[in-house]
This record gives sequence, C-alpha cells and structure tokens, in this order.
Amino acid sequence: VPGPLAYLNGEFLPRSSATLSVEDRGFVFGDGVYEVWRVLGGQPFELDAHLARLKFGLGELRITPPDIAESDMFSNVAKRLLGASSLETGEATIYLEITRGAAPRTHQFPLTPTRPTVFAVANRFEPPEPLRARGARAITMPDVRWLRCDIKTIQLLPNVLAKQTAVEQGATEAIFIRDGVVTEGSHTNLFGVERGVIRTHPANNLILGGVTRSVVIDIARSLGIEVDETPIAGDRIGGLDEAFLVGTTTDVMPLVRVDEHTVGSGAPGPIAKQLQLALRERLDAIGGERRSPATIAS
Ligand code: PDD
Repeated sequence: VPGPLAYLNGEFLPRSSATLSVEDRGFVFGDGVYEVWRVLGGQPFELDAHLARLKFGLGELRITPPDIAESDMFSNVAKRLLGASSLETGEATIYLEITRGAAPRTHQFPLTPTRPTVFAVANRFEPPEPLRARGARAITMPDVRWLRCDIKTIQLLPNVLAKQTAVEQGATEAIFIRDGVVTEGSHTNLFGVERGVIRTHPANNLILGGVTRSVVIDIARSLGIEVDETPIAGDRIGGLDEAFLVGTTTDVMPLVRVDEHTVGSGAPGPIAKQLQLALRERLDAIGGERRSPATIAS
C-alpha cells in the first residue's frame, strides 16, 4: 500500500517526498494561511464557509487566490486525497495551506511576484467521544496574540505555547483572556451559558470567526436558545452554569473545570449536550451515514 498522498503545487505525491524550498515565505516568515475541514463519508463539512474564510485571509495578506480556493478545484483535490487513503467512508480532516511562495528573504513582498505554495493532505479523524462524555478541563492564559486573530494565519506560536501549557497541566485547552475578557481557545471558540442564555465573544478582529461557531449559533437559535455575542468576563468563568468549546476538530466539547473552578455541576451541561447532538446530526447528514447510538450517547 503506498503511503499517504500529499497535494503540493499541482502535483499528487507521496507525503514523504513532498518538499518545499527553504526560502518558502511560509517557512521563513509564517507568511500564509490555512484551513481545516471536517470530512464525513468523503464530503467536506461547510466546504464553502471555509473557502470564503480562506479567500478573506488571502485578501488581507494580498496573496492572489490560487485555483484551489475555488470549490470545484478544491473538491477534486479533496476527493483524490481522500480516495488515496481510503477515507471516503468514516471521518477525516483535510488540511490546506497556502503561503506567499519562495523568494530570497526580504520582509517586504518579493519584487518579482512569487507563485503561492499550495499544500493539502487528508488524515483519518477520531472524534474525542470519551472526553466529551466526561467533560474537559481548560486553563486560562493571557492572550498575547496580535490584533488580527480573524485571519487564519499559519503563525500559531502563541497558540502552540498556550496549548502546550494546557497539556502539561493535564488540561485539554488554553482559553485566552485579553483586557479582562475571554476571547477564545488556542484552537477553539468558547461559549458560556448563564441563566439559559449563551454568551460568546463577537466575531471581530480579536478572535477567529469559527465555522463551527457560526453553525452552533445557528443551531442554538433554531432551538429557541438565546445567543448573546458579548464577551464573558474572565473572572465570571467560575460562575457560569455551563461552558463549552466549539471547533472543527472539537465539535461541542463541554468544560467541567476551568483553572481551579468547577463549571456548573461539574458534569457536561444540558445545553452543551443538546447542541452537540444537533451538530452531530448535521455532520452525519452530509456523510449520509448513521453512527451507532453508542458513539453519540452522552
Ligand atoms: N482551528 N479559534 C482558533 C484560534 C482556531 O484555530 C480554530 C480552528 C477555531 C475554530 O474554528 P473552526 O470552527 O472554523 O474550526 C477558533 C483549527 C481546527 C486548527 O488549527 O487545527
């Protein structure tokens, strides 16, 4: 069986032989953007929402969108990557990265326009169901990131260091606090529940406007749950009735402990469970598959 396939600049090749120029501006400066899709039964979830965010980021970086930012082209590449790794059934993720390309190192854009580097891979994905049933722990950390967190750039060092600190403390996620309010997690958005109302940071320049965040807000409103897009004070986390993370590789993940505070009853809360089930239905609907009740039971 050949190893996993990578897509690099128009070619499909074994991942082990997909190599980049050492002068790639992604490598040298973190000068690029990325996306991660959830894939069910070979179908990328929220395909167009991710591509729209990708194009927004490319626009902010002033990188001309390559063909892969179009849904037909992306779908073809995705299909081939998934097929080559037998990922047309079950769950997977697709990672796509676009950088400004390779050029001798200058901070400003290269004088001669470069061809953007385009890289994509597909991987098997195992949803974290046991943790979801128990509920996860998070820690808070100062949000030391720049003021354009709405661009999904590959410069993730603050996120990497925060998540590493969380893992070292036995937690699942690090939640960023800026100017006394919760912004988001290192790779997730955070929702809180107080007296039946969901609160989450507005989708401005201080957070990544998550695709899952939008879907979950939409689900909540359709279920008649009020959603208030105003930030949660960092010192109020311990007083929330529920808190949960949302994201492409996280779905809805109830938090039962944040720093030294127990959240709510210390068990996954009813709104988180209800939203997780409804999100699961939307995910399964695109995959055309039914998961066994055991894996969705909470
Ligand atoms: N991260 N906030 C940040 C900082 C993120 O990196 C992500 C996603 C999210 C959730 O966005 P979405 O629902 O569109 O996945 C919020 C991806 C999954 C990652 O870096 O692997």
